This record gives sequence, structure tokens and C-alpha cells, in this order.
Amino acid sequence: MLEQLSVLPPDPILGLAAACRADTNPNKIDLTVGVYMDESGVCPVFNAVKQAQIQLVSDEQTKAYLPAAGDAAYLSGMTSLVFGDELAGNGSHITAVQTPGGCGALRIASEVLAAASPSATVWISDPTWPVHIPLMGSVGLKFATYSYYNPLSHGVDFDRMASDLKAAVAGDIVLLHGCCHNPSGADLTLDQWSVIADMALEQGFTVLVDLAYQGMGSGLTEDVQGLRLLASRLGELIVAASCSKNLGLYRERTGVALFFGKDMQTAAATQSHGLGAARRVYSMPPAHGALLAGRVLTDPELRASWETELAQICGRMIALRTQLSTKLSEKTNQDFSFIASEKGMFSFLGLSVEQAQGLRKDPGIYMLDSSRINVAALNDRNMDIVVEAVASVL
Ligand SMILES: Cc1ncc(COP(=O)(O)O)c(C=O)c1O
Repeated sequence: MLEQLSVLPPDPILGLAAACRADTNPNKIDLTVGVYMDESGVCPVFNAVKQAQIQLVSDEQTKAYLPAAGDAAYLSGMTSLVFGDELAGNGSHITAVQTPGGCGALRIASEVLAAASPSATVWISDPTWPVHIPLMGSVGLKFATYSYYNPLSHGVDFDRMASDLKAAVAGDIVLLHGCCHNPSGADLTLDQWSVIADMALEQGFTVLVDLAYQGMGSGLTEDVQGLRLLASRLGELIVAASCSKNLGLYRERTGVALFFGKDMQTAAATQSHGLGAARRVYSMPPAHGALLAGRVLTDPELRASWETELAQICGRMIALRTQLSTKLSEKTNQDFSFIASEKGMFSFLGLSVEQAQGLRKDPGIYMLDSSRINVAALNDRNMDIVVEAVASVL
């Protein structure tokens, strides 16, 4: 029977990273990867995570399953990290399901949303992280896109976004990137989040926030101002949060689906659907990453160390953005200031598909066809080479 299957084409992003690894050019530069890289080109382990791991190895008594919803310290740590003490304090109605990564959280959130509104349309930004479509579509939800990034102005086209979202109705889901929009790096302003809140209240759609980069854009609190505004104004919000980037726990698959409900009954019912979906799909959450994150988030010393290191990472990316934007503007006599004002790891350089593909062949600089680059993959050794090469094709 299985011989009837043919080989699927490789995932466009993972396939390109694999092509780069296979390239024997010693001078190749990989700007495709979706992980944070430090100055030496390594995706580092946070010191606080290393410490937590040492503690965990010596304290661990059992490998029995975690509770189905996940580790209590992790869940409370993530709830207050995302919503803050004010919204997550006494009287709040928030439930959570620990998940395998942010992808797991998106999938569990989708299952819950499909249970609540089976004929829902999910509104996704144009462009969005391509994995949203198979991940959320696999539960049977259908999609519509709203305009988001304007390649001509190199920024969010909010007028068109708001105009497109006028068609979102009660029972629909609007997916927003909490911060550090992937792939564009262009984020909404707080005023724009507020307009979305007005529209959600008037039109009755539900908002799902994909939060994969908290602390990597402007700071841990700054990066969640928009979603906190929505939660407080709407009284209902779903957040799919990931610890892959901000705690460096990529391979440990550490995420959480957070359900901010209007009352405890709704939040509990929502969580029960999340737990039911988890039971159907993978049964129990993986423990290691969540146990580490739980310790880091709740132990004052580990927390302080993590916050300091994360702030340094965030600062380095902001500095790289400034450097790249200045150098490209000088070299090309074009305005690349948008790179400095965008957030997080990704930005489009604004090249054509041919230009992006040409740079792969010579001098061996790998970026997505859309010219999305990972700014964190730049460093003192490759920055000028990249600037020269981009200038040469413009
Ligand atoms: C926009 C976005 N959402 C969600 C994720 C999920 O990350 P993970 O499942 O590795 O936690 C990513 C990872 O690259 C992402 O870029």
C-alpha cells in the first residue's frame, strides 16, 4: 500500500537550510535559519537554562507523566509573563495547556477554535509564517488573508489591513503576530492594536495571538503591550506562546496555549477542549523544557540572569539592524531605514526572487526567495560581505 505514496517536496524553509548545509562553498552565509545566532554563529544555551538543568538533574525523582495540563510552575510562570501581574492576578479567568512548542500551542488553539466555531474562517496576514496554514488548516479551518506588509513602503499598510478585516464576522478568528512579525519584522503600533480591539468588539470576531518572540523585539513587557490591550478590552483572547526563541529551548518543544476567558466557566470549558485535543493528538506534554522554563521563570536568581541575557540578545539584534540599515543605505544610496525600525529576527531586504536566488549561487548567500533574512545570523565577519553582495544586485 505505501508504495502508492510519492515523495513530497521539501518544506520551503527547511529545504533551503538543507541546501545551504549541502553547499560545499566555504564562504557560504546562511541567513535563512529561524534560530537566534550569537556573534560566533552559534545558537547559545542561556546560562539560566544551564543552571536550571543542573538543578533538575540532581533534584529529579521521577519521569512519570506530568499532569495533562502541564507543569504548574511553568503554567503560572508563562501566564504572568504573557499577561502581566495585573491581568493575571486575582479575579482573572485564565487557563492553560502546556504544549510541544509554539506549533503545538497553535494546533491546540486551532482545535479549540474549530470546536467552538466549526465553520470559522481564520484571517491571516499577507504574508505570514507559512507554517500557519498547514498547522491550523489540518483541523479543517479555512483561511482568508488580510493585507499587512506593503513592499513599496516597507511597512504595515494598516488602512488596507483594517479595510480587509471589515469582512471578518462573529465566529471568525483573526490571527495576529504578538510581536516581531515573521517574516516581515513590521509590527503594529499600540494605536493600531487599539483599532483592532474596537473592530473585534463591534464585529464579534475572536483574536488568536501567535507569540513566538516575546522579549526579542523591544523587551519582555514592551512586546506584549498589544496583546494585553486586547485582553483587557475584549475580555477574551487566545495566545499561543513559544519558549523556543526567548528561552532558547527550540529542541525541547516548549510552548503553551493560554485561554483568557470572560468568566471561569468559559476558561475551564475552553481548557477542557484543549486537553481533549492534546489527548487525541499526542496525549501528554513533554516535560524537560517546561521544567527548565518553570524554574527559570519562578526562581528569582535564574529569572534575573535570564532577563539580563535576553535583554543583551535583544540589544544585539537592534544594534545589528542599525548597522545593516546604515551600511546598506550608504552603499546603495537607497533608504534602508525600515530595517532599523523593524523588530525581531526577520526582515525583507526588498530583493526580487531572481536577485535572492542569484546571491545563493554567487557569492553563496542564502536567504528565502522573498529576500527574508535572519538579522541575527549577521556578525562582524559577514556583515560587509552581505552588504557588498546586496548592493551589487541592486
Ligand atoms: C511566527 C512563529 N510562530 C510560531 C513558531 C513556533 O515555534 P516552535 O514550535 O518552535 O516553538 C515560530 C517558529 O519559528 C514562528 O516563527
